[in-house]
Amino acid sequence: MTRDIRFTLVGLGNIGRNLLDILVHRQEAIARDYGLRFVLVGAADSSGAALDPAGLDMAAIRDHKLVRRGVATLPGVGRAGMSALEMVRAVTADVLVEAAPTNLQSGQPGLDCVRAALDAGHHVVMADKGPLVLAFDDLMAQARAAERRLAFSGTVAGGLPTVNIGVRDLAGSGVERVEGIFNGTTNYILTRMEAEGLSYAEALQGAQAAGIAEADPTLDVDGWDAANKLIIIANSVLRRPTTLEDVTVEGIRALTLDDLAAARAGGKVIKLLALAKRMGDDYALSVRPTALPKDHPMARTGMWDMGVVYHTDYMGVISAVIEAEGPVATSAAVLRDMINLYAAS
Ligand SMILES: NC(=O)c1ccc[n+]([C@@H]2O[C@H](COP(=O)([O-])OP(=O)(O)OC[C@H]3O[C@@H](n4cnc5c(N)ncnc54)[C@H](OP(=O)(O)O)[C@@H]3O)[C@@H](O)[C@H]2O)c1
Repeated sequence: MTRDIRFTLVGLGNIGRNLLDILVHRQEAIARDYGLRFVLVGAADSSGAALDPAGLDMAAIRDHKLVRRGVATLPGVGRAGMSALEMVRAVTADVLVEAAPTNLQSGQPGLDCVRAALDAGHHVVMADKGPLVLAFDDLMAQARAAERRLAFSGTVAGGLPTVNIGVRDLAGSGVERVEGIFNGTTNYILTRMEAEGLSYAEALQGAQAAGIAEADPTLDVDGWDAANKLIIIANSVLRRPTTLEDVTVEGIRALTLDDLAAARAGGKVIKLLALAKRMGDDYALSVRPTALPKDHPMARTGMWDMGVVYHTDYMGVISAVIEAEGPVATSAAVLRDMINLYAAS
């Protein structure tokens, strides 16, 4: 017996579009392995929305977006000007997938969509960090009150199961220290500076040419993106109500090849490390360039890698590293969450 799971999707960019692509390719395997069939009943991008309670054609939407057309222009099902929030409220669904752009000022449009979906009794899967960074406790409380689940394993280093290891697999053990390489762009830059002797400016240009750094790289290179991910880990894994004010943040912009050479002379490698370190009953939280011994698991990460190390009281030291080029692994993490809403309950 295959169970139909109706879902809505807000945001049809790299993450949303690749999610549809994975679903098109994996739907049969998912039905066979988990007894689930995901049916897309609503989708929204910046042009408007598309709705069909009987199920939208996911391959057609993927192809429509690949040629940069808005879902509002889809024949028969498109609704020009319908907002994502109106779409979420208009449909009957089991799950909202929220993959809208990250907005760290207001959390919108994702935040209102997540709240509306929980209100309507939908589970929520998020790729967008914004609402979690701004309103973690509120959203978790709302999800608990609605007896719905809010999953976000793709928000901290994409496919790397950073959140899942911390929340699920360390159950019952205490965390003494978390060390993370949570930002791919800065790890790409630092790895190329170290391995190829490129200057910071040259390595940044390389990251921009590879499509992994924005024209304005501030969020990445000044450490804010890694800090936002650390905030999510602090709130979810460490259960410490945390905002950006609690994190000391320093980026990599000022690093020179001389700094790297000095570290190398001491047998170390400089990485942008997100760190949560237990201090008595609390944790000290920081993101800063850190010289790590060459054999540290995070020192060994390559230019397409991100990683995490959990130092625990009873479970030893657990490290995980992902090597993933491009955003597809995050879409796969969204799918992992969608399946686990049902497979794990
Ligand atoms: N890319 C990654 O590797 C990665 C990794 C982890 C997390 N994330 C997070 O995942 C989210 C999506 O990332 P992405 O790379 O897919 O971004 P993206 O390529 O920029 O796509 C954003 C999508 O959101 C749509 N959108 C913009 N404003 C909207 C609005 N007001 N209402 C509804 N839809 C709106 C855009 O519409 P149009 O198509 O019409 O422009 C586009 O489809 C972001 O929050 C990002 O931080 C991304």
